[in-house]
Amino acid sequence: MERLARKYGTPLYAYSASHIAQRVELFQQAFSPVPHILCYAVKANSNLAILQLLARQGCGFDVVSGGELERVLAVDHAAAERIVFSGVGKTAAEMDLALRSNILLFNVESEEELELLSQRAGKLRKRARFALRVNPDVFAETHPYISTGMREHKFGIDIRRAAAVYRRPGKHLEASGVSVHIGSQIRSTDPFGAAAERVVKLIVKLRKDGHAIQYMDIGGGLGVEYHMDQPSNAAEKVYQYAAAVIPAVQSVDGLKLLLEPGRFIVAQAGALLARVLYVKKSGDKTFVITDAAMNDLIRPALYQAYHEIVAVKHRRSSRKMVADVVGPVCETGDFFARDRELPPLQQGDLVAILDAGAYGMSLASNYNSRPRPAEVLVNGRTSRLTRRRETIEDMLATERR
Ligand code: LLP
Repeated sequence: MERLARKYGTPLYAYSASHIAQRVELFQQAFSPVPHILCYAVKANSNLAILQLLARQGCGFDVVSGGELERVLAVDHAAAERIVFSGVGKTAAEMDLALRSNILLFNVESEEELELLSQRAGKLRKRARFALRVNPDVFAETHPYISTGMREHKFGIDIRRAAAVYRRPGKHLEASGVSVHIGSQIRSTDPFGAAAERVVKLIVKLRKDGHAIQYMDIGGGLGVEYHMDQPSNAAEKVYQYAAAVIPAVQSVDGLKLLLEPGRFIVAQAGALLARVLYVKKSGDKTFVITDAAMNDLIRPALYQAYHEIVAVKHRRSSRKMVADVVGPVCETGDFFARDRELPPLQQGDLVAILDAGAYGMSLASNYNSRPRPAEVLVNGRTSRLTRRRETIEDMLATERR
């Protein structure tokens, strides 16, 4: 990590290619009893090199914008047949791009959207395969900002109304699936099982109504353990998850499962490396000020998310310091950790903010006019710059006086 930081500078996102590949392999194995496609949720980390790695492993993709769709097409045009398009606010232009690319499935979130999709498909002389994203009203314990499967959330169509919506005729539409996504960073696998059961009931009903439903899309959401003192076995978790979902899939003849994991695939493959700029004492408090900030990794500020922070080089000392680890941004919310027990850190030390591979770089911004960090992909003993550091010129390029 010290070598990477010297070579590429900090703040720097570093990812392990083999870790990502292993997570995909785990998923594929756990779900091997049923026909399935792993449609990686691009929003978790949309770096082209990572998308390419996943495409080469045969993954499909879950996209939520024309931009994400273009990213996938840029690395592998043939992956279009494994793309599902989710999101509550698809525009006509985004639909057209997806229709022309012949993606696998539109996850439609409202009747109004279904109407527009039908129009666009008609115009382009295409047939759009769609699934309604239903809201199963299942409670999943997670941060309120990333819980999505309850009636009061903006997502999906009430599962009790879904059958009536499927009944609406549409020459250019093909009802091929039912989809659901109940939230993110969900640690218990029970809610997934409950959601799958509710979706399967609907699928049985829809098939009776004459719809050729082939796909159940269970969404993403499987959580990871961010705390080092609560080690958890990733393989065990995936198999538990599979055990919760597979029986529902097997209860319907010829049903194919779509999975949209994001975080579980990439979160623990990545760290954000940052240099300590200052160690500042103020009254009883100590602040470790790093060159990374909330614009680089917003999860602690936005969700009070916990990330382990480790000193890359340990000094021989049993002493500990208790400090807030913060960035240079002008907001009190700009912190990575509060009152955290750390090894004694000094100016110039390198720290690694762990488990930052998902929703780190993809949520990075230019707040405070800070150029976004570089990204490297580590493969065995070699590393490759997969996104150069943004420059001030990059930032100013789109503006005019
Ligand atoms: N499918 C859909 C329709 C989604 O909305 C999401 C995530 C996923 C799949 C992937 O979920 P995952 O497997 O990664 O949990 N920024 C937040 C997480 C937002 C999740 C949004 N939707 C965070 O940093 O915790």
